Amino acid sequence: MKKITAKELTNEEKARLVIGKNTWHNEDLGGKVPVFMMSDGPVGVRHPRDVNSATSDTAPSIAYPCFEALSQTWNLELANKLGKAIANDCMDLDIDVILGPGVNIKRLPINGRNFEYLSEDPLLAGLLAKSYIEGVQNENVGACLKHYCCNNTESSRNYKSMDVSTRALREIYLKPFEIASKAKPWEVMCSYNLVNGCRMSENKKLYNILRNEFGFDGLIVSDWGAVMDREKSLNAGLDLEMPYSKEHLDDLLNKIKEDQIDLDQLNTCAQRVIDFAFKAENTRPLRKKTLSTEDRYDIAREIANEGIVLLKNENNVLPLNPKEERLLVSGAPLNWYVYGGGSSEVTPLKEYVKLLDALKEEGFNAKGANALEFNRGPVSCVGNLVGALNQTIKENITTSIVTISQDNWEQSEGYNRQNLLLSNEQVSLIHEVAKVSKKTVVIIYAGAPIEMGEWIDEVDAVIWASYTGEKGNESIAKILSGKVNPSGKTSETFPLLLEDFDSINAYEDARSCVYEEDLNVGYRQFVTDNTPVLFPFGYGLSYSNFEYDNLKLSKEDKKVIVEFDVTNTSNIDGKEVAEVYVEDLTRVTYRPKYELKGFEKALIKAKQTKHFRIELGEDAFQYYSTSYDKWTVNHGVFKIMVGKNCLDIELEENIEY
Ligand code: GLC
Repeated sequence: MKKITAKELTNEEKARLVIGKNTWHNEDLGGKVPVFMMSDGPVGVRHPRDVNSATSDTAPSIAYPCFEALSQTWNLELANKLGKAIANDCMDLDIDVILGPGVNIKRLPINGRNFEYLSEDPLLAGLLAKSYIEGVQNENVGACLKHYCCNNTESSRNYKSMDVSTRALREIYLKPFEIASKAKPWEVMCSYNLVNGCRMSENKKLYNILRNEFGFDGLIVSDWGAVMDREKSLNAGLDLEMPYSKEHLDDLLNKIKEDQIDLDQLNTCAQRVIDFAFKAENTRPLRKKTLSTEDRYDIAREIANEGIVLLKNENNVLPLNPKEERLLVSGAPLNWYVYGGGSSEVTPLKEYVKLLDALKEEGFNAKGANALEFNRGPVSCVGNLVGALNQTIKENITTSIVTISQDNWEQSEGYNRQNLLLSNEQVSLIHEVAKVSKKTVVIIYAGAPIEMGEWIDEVDAVIWASYTGEKGNESIAKILSGKVNPSGKTSETFPLLLEDFDSINAYEDARSCVYEEDLNVGYRQFVTDNTPVLFPFGYGLSYSNFEYDNLKLSKEDKKVIVEFDVTNTSNIDGKEVAEVYVEDLTRVTYRPKYELKGFEKALIKAKQTKHFRIELGEDAFQYYSTSYDKWTVNHGVFKIMVGKNCLDIELEENIEY
């Protein structure tokens, strides 16, 4: 198809170009412009059978572990592999752009779609997203970085203004987009909400930062239904409204007739849509599958293996020996696929692997008891609990496994949770089982933290399974048997109580959400005000034991080189995530006590020592100055810390910078 320019089109044709043709495609003007298709979602292709609808009737595709699980791997290579796998799934279904990754910061643990996002920390979120985008786009499929920006709550998301300071915006909420934009995503999707009183579909100032400072040169597309005024959004630089809106097209055409539209701006946006359409058209022939379906399932398994977090392992009760154990598994999610709700929901490609089957496959003598029938939001339906307890005693069960879940009625796009509580029935199941069991292991299928204070002291081990996709139970069974050594670490704070979060106590009503906690998001608050937490950011147990030593700091130009050794003193090969935090000891303005500025994950074989070398660039020392309106280093003394998590600092040393 010969490439055209917007100038060759009528204004009416340009108007049609800047609004989608239907739910998932662009307008092609009767063949003048190529058609491209976009589809959700970040962890599995959600290809609607009816391309004019957005229902959950979607073609089966691999359901990967959710983004919370991916982020808990702290493994950038795996993020890249997930992108590559998803791109191959897109090729199966002729999709040009996958609508992911989502990088919004987890400011509120009750936010409904936190399972779809990556972290409370902008560096971890940004680097994972950048790797994912590179993985997708290396396969000549497009990625869509979303939701720009401050989509940090689902409650009345279309109407609420996120009122946030310039520093918090720059240092926390824009930062993941700044980092991920280095991967040149084909698209950025604007969010539904307002920021400081300006709707994100009309936010020229933040679009200019995205384009002129972050170097984004792709298409700015609206979230589906996020445009309220097509003229204002056009003037701000929003290139493509999705989905089709007859009302907005008619309005645009009428305003063109009345000479009310900035025709240069219309031309600019229409040209970007044309350029994008031809880019998709010209890239399509370059695509060729690089991963078989089984290869992709292997990537899903790797993410589950490394994204599951061992939160508690009292007296090293885990791993279990399949030859010696008699397991009884009870809990609602025993029998079906548990996932977060909304646009990231995927119809699994194959039969969901149930935990009981996975345990038997792993060689365990395992039985199931229907102590709980099912969960529906904040209530669960009790089953034959008494029978399960009697069976535990009568059959001399050696270890009870209790499966707990928050499913897609509780964690979902479109609304927030009201609290971090489990249903009463699930809590009592844990209490009752723990009372009669020799050992109790709780496995939690959820995509965002829950409170555990009521019962955690009564059980021996807790495995945070996240939403591990259609094959995740295979990984859980392998972690229980020790075939997989857990290496996941939390990417957000697990609080003792929801109310411990300053952000929860900040002012919010139907019209505005005031980010009163400012820079103190997540662990930034807790390491600064010393509020105790259940599990800190960056925390996770292993079957190995790692010791840190020999910290050495050096400088190369504007870089600080952080070198140290980690020794695996156990007899089990294991992977460790080493985290580097920086504190500005001579700061001239407020800064959180310290912040994550580097990390690396490595396999360290039994009894071996691995030398780590992590480079910190100038950005690791900067803060955004609103006096100079730019990133600034206050030269002075900085403390460099190396930790297993944000509270367990193993090594530290000061350096002048
Ligand atoms: C949804 C989501 C967005 C998704 C889009 C298309 O409402 O906010 O993440 O990609 O609409 O389904």
